[in-house]
Amino acid sequence: MEIIDMHCHILPGIDDGAPDEETTRAMLGQAWEHGTVAMVATPHKYKRRGFWPSDDAVVKAYNQARRIAQEIDPAFVIFLGSEVGNSSKLDTYLQDGQYRTIAGSKYLLIEFSPSDPFEIIQRSLQTVQMNGYKPILAHCERYDAIVEEPERLEELSQAGVLLQLNADSILGKRGRKVKKFCLKALKKNLISFIGSDAHDLTYRPPVLDECYEFIEKKFGTQRADALFNANIAKVIMSSGKF
Ligand SMILES: [Fe+2]
Repeated sequence: MEIIDMHCHILPGIDDGAPDEETTRAMLGQAWEHGTVAMVATPHKYKRRGFWPSDDAVVKAYNQARRIAQEIDPAFVIFLGSEVGNSSKLDTYLQDGQYRTIAGSKYLLIEFSPSDPFEIIQRSLQTVQMNGYKPILAHCERYDAIVEEPERLEELSQAGVLLQLNADSILGKRGRKVKKFCLKALKKNLISFIGSDAHDLTYRPPVLDECYEFIEKKFGTQRADALFNANIAKVIMSSGKF
C-alpha cells in the first residue's frame, strides 16, 4: 500500500491546519506511519474565510514541511497545491493567477460552502474550466445541494469535473446518510480521488490506511490504488515537472 494524500492542511501556520512546525512534524510522522508516502499540501486560499496567504509565506511553509518530511524518511515527498474557496471574484482571481494548482499541473482543487446552491457550484466550476483549468471538486459529499440530489454528481462528472471524497466520510464518521452517498458514488465509479483533508492529529488526522483497506475489500486492489495513488500521480505527472 503506497498512498498519496492529495488533500491535507499540513503546512505550519498557513491556515486552520497545523499551527506550527511541531504539529506539522507530528502530522507528517502520523501519515508516514499509516502508509502515506507522498502528500499534496493544499492550504486554503479562501478570501471569505480570511485565508489569503502570500505566495512567499506558502512557499516558506512548504519548504519547512518538505525538510521535515525528509527528516522522517528521505523517500517521503511533499508536493504543493492549494484548496481554492469559491468567490464572487473567482473569474478575476483565476485570470490574475492568484490560485495555485496541484503541483504545477492544470488541476485545481476547489471547495464551496456546504449550503451553496447547485447553480453556484455549477457556474463556478464552469468558470474554472473556461479559464483553462481542470476542476477537482473537494469533498463532494459535503454539499447539501448534491447530497439531496445525487444525480447532480453525474451531471458534474459528465461536464468534466473530477470528484474527491474525504476518507472519514466514507468510513461513516460524518453520518450514515453521507456514508451511503459516498458508497453510491463509488459504486457508480464517479470518484477520482480520496484524501484525508487532514487538519490536525485527532479530529481530522492524515490517516488513510483504514479507508484504503475498506475500499480494497469492497472494490479490489486496483480501484484502491487508483483512488489513493494512481489518479493523483497522473495529475502530478501531467505538470511535466516530476
Ligand atoms: Fe480541505
